[in-house]
Amino acid sequence: MIVALTGQKGGVGKSTLAIGIASELLVRRHKVLLVDADPQGTIRTWGEVAAEAGQPMPSIVSMGSTMHRAEQLPTVRMGYDDVVIDCPPRHGDIQRSALMVADMAILPCGPSSADAWALAASIDLINEARALRPELEVRIVITRKQGRTALGRSAREELTKSGIELLKSELGYRVAFAESLGMGQGVTTYAPRDAAAEETRALVNELLLWEKKNVVKEPSPKASSRR
Ligand SMILES: Nc1ncnc2c1ncn2[C@@H]1O[C@H](COP(=O)(O)OP(=O)(O)O)[C@@H](O)[C@H]1O
Ligand SMILES: [Mg+2]
Repeated sequence: MIVALTGQKGGVGKSTLAIGIASELLVRRHKVLLVDADPQGTIRTWGEVAAEAGQPMPSIVSMGSTMHRAEQLPTVRMGYDDVVIDCPPRHGDIQRSALMVADMAILPCGPSSADAWALAASIDLINEARALRPELEVRIVITRKQGRTALGRSAREELTKSGIELLKSELGYRVAFAESLGMGQGVTTYAPRDAAAEETRALVNELLLWEKKNVVKEPSPKASSRR
């Protein structure tokens, strides 16, 4: 499957989650391609740290606003089980390109109502993409959640109004997420017993379950003429 981490806001945890998902898929022996679509190059830098530290890592490529073109990602992805795209904040053209090739777009969102409101601009972009590609699946994931706060609950209610489904999995505000990247790892290999790793594994389970169901429902989604 091709999963894109998107959203107009920076600092919400897109890159951290992209790395967490890609590393966990690698643990499960999938062949994984991680696409750095952010000019800031968080993924590339992480890749250098991972290589230096001798950590197992996915293949990494940088791509931009033309990644959806036939000779780009659709060609490069051959031979990989999964592709994870880390999108930049803003840069609508790059996000649009990612949304043209993704099977699933994930929008990480902080736990406050203000975070939920800030998602409006991202949702416009998503709706634009869904009008062109009704098969595009979109999920919001609540991240950086601190405890069982009322804040988290109200965000969930707020977000449900957006018309986009939420993943059941939620990610807490946990230092292991930040630490793992600095070590050139994903959180499930860096701190496998930490709650952060449990949350990431649960999220990956949810994605794989969705993929399995989707393949059964639609035998040849790749045959879509729009690709
Ligand atoms: N669940 C989390 N808990 C604690 N810190 C997090 C979490 N997710 C991300 N961070 C930290 O927040 C900052 C921004 O995360 P990043 O993944 O770079 O966001 P984005 O790619 O959306 O700009 C980083 O310092 C990262 O370590
Ligand atoms: Mg980033």
